[in-house]
Amino acid sequence: MSSEVEAEAEAEAEYFCKDFDWEELRSEVEGNPCFAHHFLSAPSSSSPSPQSDVQAWKRFHLRHSSGKFFRERRYLLKEFPELISCPPHSKLLEIGCGNGSTVLPILRANKDAIVYACDCSDETLERAKEIVSAAITGAPVQHRFRTFCCDLATDGYPNWLACNPCRHKFLQNQSHCLLGFRKDDGLHYTNLNPSEEFGCCVGGVDFVTLIFTLSAVPLERMPKSIKECFIVLKPGGMVFFRDYGLYDMTMLRFEPHKRVGFREYMRSDGTRSYFFCLDTVRNLFLGAGFTELELDYCCVKSVNRQKGKCMQRVWVHGKFQKPAVSCQ
Ligand SMILES: C[S@@+](CC[C@H](N)C(=O)[O-])C[C@H]1O[C@@H](n2cnc3c(N)ncnc32)[C@H](O)[C@@H]1O
Repeated sequence: MSSEVEAEAEAEAEYFCKDFDWEELRSEVEGNPCFAHHFLSAPSSSSPSPQSDVQAWKRFHLRHSSGKFFRERRYLLKEFPELISCPPHSKLLEIGCGNGSTVLPILRANKDAIVYACDCSDETLERAKEIVSAAITGAPVQHRFRTFCCDLATDGYPNWLACNPCRHKFLQNQSHCLLGFRKDDGLHYTNLNPSEEFGCCVGGVDFVTLIFTLSAVPLERMPKSIKECFIVLKPGGMVFFRDYGLYDMTMLRFEPHKRVGFREYMRSDGTRSYFFCLDTVRNLFLGAGFTELELDYCCVKSVNRQKGKCMQRVWVHGKFQKPAVSCQ
């Protein structure tokens, strides 16, 4: 793993907090001529092929197959307490799961949660399964952890997760209450025991986690990716979002030739990273039909002990809900 990725992984393991003010950082950065290249309009580059992004991630996982890339994100349980307090048998989809850094703390802390996890790399899915099976002892975890390969930028989610009739019913029945369960309407609500499920699919999910994954997708494909999350969520379901924020230290370190778009950069290994401002995140989620529950910058000062340097990290924390109008 490059020291750059290592430093990112380490600093990401911080809790949601505000060590500094984002507006102050913004005026510092925008007033500094050294950073002028970051504000230029998008470089004119041909549209990236979806395959090249996915291939870059596949190569990344092959190179880092030792699992060193893995770091458990325990802080997510504090950021998103619903992951623990949700009703029994709640279903969660982790998108771009990598080696399982997000799914492992959830499976460990919530013994009733059912977790589906996808990634574009088969290699990393295998590693995630190994890591989860080795870490969770006692009751077998296979019946509540299922992985599948999927490109979130171009594919829809599989029908076994939410079949077409259920997807349509989600849209038609958003006026029904999430916590209500009506035997006659064929919908799969949060408090439904898995044994009572209908045969067609698992009935959609109650939660989606998008943790440092959306930034890997080209900006132009993000609206489709968010719309697909909306489609597989049950009415009232939530997305928990965390990703790189505008003027994060890792953005400011990118050299001019690494820019591939406005606020979009490509690392030397071909993986890309977008840096979000709050409005971009808001527009993506509201544009897909979500309601905003929480959205803010998380600004953390982190010290690189080896180099004795203080790093100003910026992430975006967000919580969005698929509307569920109250019971009549
Ligand atoms: C920075 S890692 C985040 C992993 C995980 N969410 C976590 O919390 O550590 C980004 C992940 O997104 C995956 N990814 C990137 N582009 C993808 C795509 N188009 N479809 C599915 N997964 C993708 C990568 O393979 C990688 O595992």
